[in-house]
Amino acid sequence: MPVIRFVREQRDVECYPGENLREVALREGIELYGLKGRLGNCGGCGQCITCFVEVVEGGADNALTEQTSVELLKLKRRPQTWRLACQALVQKSVMVLTRPQVGLSDRENDLGRARSIPLPEGPTAWPEPPAAPEAVEPQGFETAPEGPGVPSTTSDEGGVLPADGR
Ligand code: FES
Repeated sequence: MPVIRFVREQRDVECYPGENLREVALREGIELYGLKGRLGNCGGCGQCITCFVEVVEGGADNALTEQTSVELLKLKRRPQTWRLACQALVQKSVMVLTRPQVGLSDRENDLGRARSIPLPEGPTAWPEPPAAPEAVEPQGFETAPEGPGVPSTTSDEGGVLPADGR
């Protein structure tokens, strides 16, 4: 599974290939938003421009999906390494810095430490699902035998007939 290394938080998180970066971060309790985003964000629609992450050199090539048209429009004046987490799907292992607009007090040391431990590349496909169990016949209901010589117990309208057919 790909690993997302959150540099600021000093955490490695596994995810499935194709998972949304924002959703993984929120699921893992990673603080993605600055003050503005905490007060109100678009919920991942690519409209509030508050879920910035910086992709740090050291992850796999093409670790995230290509920039979406929303990002191309909204990130025009931002560094080229920035992405909107809600628009990025994780394909391979990647290192990211959340809230890059806030900065890191000891940036070079923190980045150096993050880069010093290699990331596994991770598979690019979901694992095979487990084999389906054998089909089992339902238990508990017996069906009455039908055919010539066997008296029917229901009428054509579904009503119950006496056993002698009257
Ligand atoms: S959550 Fe609003 S742009 Fe990403």
